[in-house]
Amino acid sequence: MENAVCSCAEVKRILISAEEIENAVKAAGEKISREYAGKSLLIAGVLTGAFIFTADLCRAVKIPCETAFIKASSYNDGTVSSGKVDITLDIDRDLSAYHVIIAEDIIDTGYTMKALTERLRQRSPKSLAVYALIDKPERRKVDFRADYTLFTIPDTFVVGYGLDCGEKFRNLPYIAEAGI
Ligand code: IMP
Ligand code: MG
Repeated sequence: MENAVCSCAEVKRILISAEEIENAVKAAGEKISREYAGKSLLIAGVLTGAFIFTADLCRAVKIPCETAFIKASSYNDGTVSSGKVDITLDIDRDLSAYHVIIAEDIIDTGYTMKALTERLRQRSPKSLAVYALIDKPERRKVDFRADYTLFTIPDTFVVGYGLDCGEKFRNLPYIAEAGI
């Protein structure tokens, strides 16, 4: 992206290894497989940050499910939340036919997920749950809690496994603290 700002020159240290991620995603998939057996399940990944998490999570789910993507942006460029959330790509399905799980990369201020879940609830899904790969509870600006969190981390900016800094570092197989 031409005007993306990335102040992260390199990664500082690995916070969550590829193996830890794999084990946690497997456990989340097993939980979903148990709790949603016999139900019409739609896993909706939030682009772009959750694209790898969504791909791994849906493969860890051992029951029939559909997948979709939604794109919301609260971070424009760089690392500062604007508080304004736009849905730029919507889920192309009648949500009233599904139990919906939103797969999100990280809950930071909470603005994105609060706004997104409020909007999606208006479309009367059979149920709606948020599976968050990472939570940074210290950074919360609005009241929001995910239904399931794989990792809770302190207030630090992280990259890898789908998460970016100025569109870079998404391809790292682990989650690392970004270095300035
Ligand atoms: P929130 O609306 O402030 O909760 O922000 C959620 C979005 O901000 C996430 O979906 C990420 O795209 C982005 N974000 C927040 N913290 C980080 C981080 O540490 N690394 C990369 N992206 C982040
Ligand atoms: Mg992002």
